[in-house]
Amino acid sequence: MCGIVGTIGKTDTLPFLLEGLGRLEYRGYDSAGVAVLSGNEIQTRKAVGGVAQLVAEVEQNPLRGNPGISHTRWATHGGVTTENAHPHLDASGKLALVHNGVVENHKHLRDELIGRGHVFLSQTDTEVLAHLIGEAFDQNSDRNRSALLHAMQEALRHVRGTYAIAVIHADLGKFLAAARSGSPLVLGIGKEAQFIASDAAALDGWVQDIIYLKDQDIAALDGESFHLATVNGGTATAPKLRKIQVEARATGKGIFPHHMLKEIHEQPDTLREAMKGRLIPEESTARFTGLHRTNEQLRDLKRIILTGCGTTFHAALAGEYMIESLSRIPVECDYASEFRYRNAPLDPETAVFAMSQSGETADTLAALRESKRKGALTLGICNNVFSTISRESDGGIGLRAGVEIGVAATKTFTSELVILAMLGLILGRIRDLSQADAAEIIESLERLPDLVARTLERDALIADIAAKYAKTRNFLFMGRQANFPIALEGALKMKEITYIASSGHPSAELKHGIIALINEETPTIVLAPQDDVFEKNVSNIEEIKARRGPVIAIGTEGDNTLASLCDEAILLPAAPGFLSPFLNSIALQLLAYHTAVALGCNVDKPRNLAKSVTVE
Ligand code: F6R
Repeated sequence: MCGIVGTIGKTDTLPFLLEGLGRLEYRGYDSAGVAVLSGNEIQTRKAVGGVAQLVAEVEQNPLRGNPGISHTRWATHGGVTTENAHPHLDASGKLALVHNGVVENHKHLRDELIGRGHVFLSQTDTEVLAHLIGEAFDQNSDRNRSALLHAMQEALRHVRGTYAIAVIHADLGKFLAAARSGSPLVLGIGKEAQFIASDAAALDGWVQDIIYLKDQDIAALDGESFHLATVNGGTATAPKLRKIQVEARATGKGIFPHHMLKEIHEQPDTLREAMKGRLIPEESTARFTGLHRTNEQLRDLKRIILTGCGTTFHAALAGEYMIESLSRIPVECDYASEFRYRNAPLDPETAVFAMSQSGETADTLAALRESKRKGALTLGICNNVFSTISRESDGGIGLRAGVEIGVAATKTFTSELVILAMLGLILGRIRDLSQADAAEIIESLERLPDLVARTLERDALIADIAAKYAKTRNFLFMGRQANFPIALEGALKMKEITYIASSGHPSAELKHGIIALINEETPTIVLAPQDDVFEKNVSNIEEIKARRGPVIAIGTEGDNTLASLCDEAILLPAAPGFLSPFLNSIALQLLAYHTAVALGCNVDKPRNLAKSVTVE
């Protein structure tokens, strides 16, 4: 949520401030802004919309300067306006600040500042931070760089919430200060210039050496050297310099009109990549070296908790079915936002898997930290293996899905599913799963990428169905067993990118209330593969049809029942039961995508969303 970048060096900062910011747009794209020190005054430019709008604004009203900071916003406090766009200035107009995070006690702090004569120009919590730091700085007669660092320490001590901030001041020349608590921040240390960014992706190509700041760190940069301190005045732990390793970024869309469609079509490859070198057919098991756990240690586990948010939580729910059936270890799934406050009993025989595509989701990170505090084994499942969750876990598994640019998660969802299937396999093989049963699972997993490729061949058929139902106001999604979470995920995808009210349910819950929603205008998507609950799904379809509800069934090739019973039937390749969630989820991704296209929605940047949710 919100992306910040900053730089200080020998030359003009604008090229980096705009390019780096563009790479962080996945974090928010409501509005954007930039501030630079030009001569001895701060100059800002802001625009509502994405970085392209800011670039246009800068082209119309050019500015040059050094140091500089910039920001792409996902609104938390105050509407999407240029006044609320960052950077924000303090009362003197000499201090500019960008912020990612949420100041929870901003109202209290704002009221106190107003009581002391401060006037605010925006509704943001960020402007409060700028005024608070500016006031502390102005009260210090020294007015030098140390005074700004002290002012930040003094002000941030009163702040409850999360922040990654960068600050420049008109009186301090070549000086840029930054601090973090709860929101990610990385430093780039170059010979000619230094940088800060919310994500190393912004620094790729600009700098080789990076440092991930720790919570409570304050960094002071002067373009040639840097110094670290902490918010509470203590000494910062020695920084660890790393080489930047941003995953190969597929920046282009190739032959596809949208990143989302490209990413949906990448799934045969991303699934292959997730399994590469990890399946061990000769031992009928799998291996994740990043878990750093021996079989003996894994055998001691008595309970598994899978926690995450949104799409990732749906993958966890599907994983619960897979892991329990393969390993017989009890699995619980919890929304990270609930788990962090649930006060769940935890012990060293419990493994908590903090799952997150981005590895930066605030709730999931908090759940991880809470689990660690209580002595559970904490393991990460992330796509970004350099993320905070990856770094803070006792061990972890990378998704290897490559960068996902479309805001709606697609390929990372199926990568999470396949990782959880392999995890079930590993845990099963050190308990009761027979070599023969495991060998069959491995064989099926090896066929998965081809089955997915064949599922993608239904693209045109699904596009036709999507166009036909695009004007729908409500969709229902139904599935049983591991396909129930897939129904939840199908509904989430649909509402995220089409804004059509959609809800997912276990099919058997139909008669417990949901049936009241059935009418001629409410299509139900029923996941009904040929499996041991097929007949039960058919009964549900009959119940819906008896009330004249349109049904779009997703079944299995060769099925003769669904086409005659339902309004639409999308038949996917025959696959072993535990693979049907993969194939069904791809069909539902395509259905949501084509519906959004038919409606003319902004598929890759749906309204109100951001790719990485780093605020609570
Ligand atoms: C849905 C989506 C979100 C994320 C959720 C968790 O398309 O992208 O629901 O799944 O915000 O994000 P991560 O996995 O990065 O923790």
